[in-house]
Amino acid sequence: MVEADIPAQHVAIIMDGNGRWAQQRGKPRLFGHHAGAKRVREIVAACPSVGVKYLTVFAFSTENWKRTQTEVSGLMKLFRRYIMKESQNLMKDGVRVRFIGDRINLDEKLVGLMDELELLTADNNVVNLTIALNYGGRDEVTRAVQRLAHEVQKGRINATDVNAEVLSSFLDTHVLPDPDLVIRTSGEARISNFLLWQSAYAEYEFINTLWPDFTASEFRELVVSFGLRERRFGAVLV
Ligand code: FPP
Repeated sequence: MVEADIPAQHVAIIMDGNGRWAQQRGKPRLFGHHAGAKRVREIVAACPSVGVKYLTVFAFSTENWKRTQTEVSGLMKLFRRYIMKESQNLMKDGVRVRFIGDRINLDEKLVGLMDELELLTADNNVVNLTIALNYGGRDEVTRAVQRLAHEVQKGRINATDVNAEVLSSFLDTHVLPDPDLVIRTSGEARISNFLLWQSAYAEYEFINTLWPDFTASEFRELVVSFGLRERRFGAVLV
């Protein structure tokens, strides 16, 4: 394996194509989501071998509530099952799990399991897995600005002291570095409201593979090829 020159410390993934994968097999969409959930484990396990410390996956967007009730409730059940079934494996692999997104519309049982898993894995540090659940970039920035405005109103922050760093500290991702690489599977070249603020300087990879077919070796190849690229962050390299 070729070692990446500059490792992607943080990789974020839009896991797309579960529905089409299931359709191609004449199965219901939820069958694809179940297959997709299995892939998460394999990709998390591949992170240390290519120097990825942070992995963030888009599991459910603020727009996904528009799907049929059967699909939404099936996905919520899948998230609950995933947390219950995977917690021991995550502990074994030293994975620290965090959730980002608005918890307000999620059912109490799921939120309880999310809190428990965050607490259980809080001392792990091999890989930091962040699961975006009921997450939208605009929603996250809006909630951050609401909290920030409240602090200004209370006189705890001066309006003139507000800068990008201050705003970042109010985002759900405040403890995470910005993503270096964002991958979207299934051939769609959109960012769909994912980590809008945080990905300002990220590299993007839009690949055709449907998420349930995405393998650890494809993931490693993308990370390694990222490491061979030159990133300028708006500056000119001399
Ligand atoms: C997009 O595919 C995928 C989702 C909306 C759900 C993502 C969920 C998982 C991969 C499973 C669970 C994840 C965790 C972390 C437990 P799509 O349904 O939009 O596919 P399509 O574009 O082919 O219809």
